[in-house]
Amino acid sequence: MPKPSRAAAVSPTALYTGAVWARNGLSHPAFATLEGHLMFQAARPALALARALGGPTLEGLLLSRHRVIDQQLHAAIKAGRVTQVIEIAAGLSPRGWRFVKHYGPRIRYIEADLPGMAARKRALLTRLGHHGDRHRVVDIDAFAEAGPMSLAAIADTLDPTQGTAIITEGLINYFPVDAVTGLWSRMATTLSRFPNGLYLSDLHIGGENRNPAVRAFVQALSVFVRGRVHLHFSSADEAVQAIESAGFSSAKLLRPSDLAKDWPDCRDPAARLVRVIVAHTESPRAA
Ligand SMILES: C[S@@+](CC[C@H](N)C(=O)[O-])C[C@H]1O[C@@H](n2cnc3c(N)ncnc32)[C@H](O)[C@@H]1O
Repeated sequence: MPKPSRAAAVSPTALYTGAVWARNGLSHPAFATLEGHLMFQAARPALALARALGGPTLEGLLLSRHRVIDQQLHAAIKAGRVTQVIEIAAGLSPRGWRFVKHYGPRIRYIEADLPGMAARKRALLTRLGHHGDRHRVVDIDAFAEAGPMSLAAIADTLDPTQGTAIITEGLINYFPVDAVTGLWSRMATTLSRFPNGLYLSDLHIGGENRNPAVRAFVQALSVFVRGRVHLHFSSADEAVQAIESAGFSSAKLLRPSDLAKDWPDCRDPAARLVRVIVAHTESPRAA
């Protein structure tokens, strides 16, 4: 299990992403914290320079992955395949709030994060009148293998007859490969209990992040999150194989840049540096 100190170091990045979602009209202003605003201002010169040079920007990276995960989740809900969502490491992401506002009682959404961040999100949603049976925030340690803060325990509170999705955004690349494949395997086991298990996540691939400008970008990201950004797989095929070996019946890695004609955010060069995992589990057999 990764050290708790490593996990805690990742938490402040949620304040920054919270500011990005709010500044781009994806969120409620309540999700934008003062700390996030200050972090955004501190990073602004680097962002402006990258933009002026036509290079990848952190904002473009965040927005492009966020759009694609949204798009895949909307498609699964609209097709009737998914009505329950567990978003792990939700931080100050507005996705749960937006989806519950949009779909109302048709879905049930659980946001999960380490206790400190979860308490913050719970207080925010309560203030917005959004915390209730269909939209909850719970404590999780994504790397807990058992116990009340494990994924399995949280999934026990859901309806086993309903299609279910698990989302991670901005989590996987901050942890070493063994921790990640262990998490994928627990996710596959959990989702196999439900019909139409779906997993959505961002993922960075080593072979797609190699040129010097991109390496500098990854270095800057590592400094920003006060730790190493792990590039676990050298190719998309290798990543797909690892996801399927963890127990998913199928997996593919979408490129946000392929949606450039639909989403201006996906035109940022950073949209070529990130992938979105779309993985499925087999439905449980009828008894
Ligand atoms: C980069 S932020 C991403 C937040 C959100 N998904 C977004 O995109 O705005 C990373 C999040 O991972 C959470 N986190 C770190 N370690 C975790 C763990 N072991 N279990 C659950 N969440 C964790 C942090 O608290 C933080 O909210």
